Amino acid sequence: MQKVASLPLPSADALGASTALSTVIADAIKAAGGWIGFDRFMSLALYAPRLGYYSGGAAKFGRDAGDGSDFITAPELSPFFARTLARQFAPLIGMNLPQVMEFGAGTGRLAADLLLALETEGALPDTYRIVELSGELRARQQQTLAERAPHLASRVTWLDTLPDRFEGVIVGNEVLDAMPVSLFARIGGKWYERGVSHDGNGFAYQDRVMESSAVPAVLKNFPGDHDVVTETHAEAEGFTRAVAAMLSRGAAFFIDYGFPAAEYYHPQRVGGTLMCHYRHHAHPDPFLYPGLQDITAHVNFTGIAEAAVDAGLTVAGFASQARFLMNAGITELMMSLDPSDARAFLPQANAVQKLLSEAEMGELFKVIALTRDLDDALPLAGFARGDRTFAL
Ligand SMILES: C[S@@+](CC[C@H](N)C(=O)[O-])C[C@H]1O[C@@H](n2cnc3c(N)ncnc32)[C@H](O)[C@@H]1O
Repeated sequence: MQKVASLPLPSADALGASTALSTVIADAIKAAGGWIGFDRFMSLALYAPRLGYYSGGAAKFGRDAGDGSDFITAPELSPFFARTLARQFAPLIGMNLPQVMEFGAGTGRLAADLLLALETEGALPDTYRIVELSGELRARQQQTLAERAPHLASRVTWLDTLPDRFEGVIVGNEVLDAMPVSLFARIGGKWYERGVSHDGNGFAYQDRVMESSAVPAVLKNFPGDHDVVTETHAEAEGFTRAVAAMLSRGAAFFIDYGFPAAEYYHPQRVGGTLMCHYRHHAHPDPFLYPGLQDITAHVNFTGIAEAAVDAGLTVAGFASQARFLMNAGITELMMSLDPSDARAFLPQANAVQKLLSEAEMGELFKVIALTRDLDDALPLAGFARGDRTFAL
């Protein structure tokens, strides 16, 4: 197994689990004849039962490497993220849509803080459903809800499969970026699918030449003829189609880092966006400690919008996270804090600054809203200014 000297070493138990997962992936490669697509590798590394990064016991979410975590997300950073989302969701819930569904609920922090904020807004949903692939995270979500919002916990249920129909508000924060991607390389003007092989030294990239008919349409338009490596997102787009098929009336909000296709497949983006997170270090090596690190790619929001529109949804807005949160009222919410109480105010102000700052999450992160049969609610407050749907 590969090691990087500058990164913290995993415990012996964690290394044992990683070795077991490496064996599972190596067996899958062998069974497939010596090569698997990167999407399959990523799927096993993140979601293989009990051993994958999200299915296993890694701490994942937290403030710094000292608590054994790998990254922090907006709901973990500040309750003002959930409180601001609640300002956008409350009027929709009031339009006879008293159900919320969250995908990939992480520690359960967003669920707990959203329910508390919706209670304050006088817009408590009757039910809050969570779709979570990881049994380990489901248990953590139950614990968070019991601790932070015990009187509301009975409203929350977990779903193993999607219902045929859902009317309500859907939310997913940093879920699309956690879906497996395929990798492709254009070398000397020819496209190859970049997959994974395994030998005595561990996993390695291996490129397979592609018939031109097999090259995804989105790559055929990649400008220029210089060498590039990039990703496609069939799973996230299939997921969007499944959400659209289920959503009979309501709105779905997905918040994540990414760009429209023109920026994603831009001639200057020659190395793609694949990134790994281990103990708050971001690095590009997906073969390091399988199962102990997150693997992600940025979202191609044009692909998400096209999948949604093909399935009959309306793109009701696309904006930077900063724009969306400010439009939805994060600044007014912050005014409820007393700035003279520096001990309470400063940490919250710093966290909100991270959510909004262009140099941190404010610009790279985007919010897309997809609606069906909700024309009376448009335009949504979160996109009142700075809507960039035109760029998709
Ligand atoms: C980066 S974490 C984000 C967690 C949380 N939303 C947050 O913001 O802290 C990604 C989450 O997406 C979940 N996930 C990935 N694919 C999913 C899918 N198809 N359905 C539901 N959850 C999914 C993972 O299990 C994990 O909980």
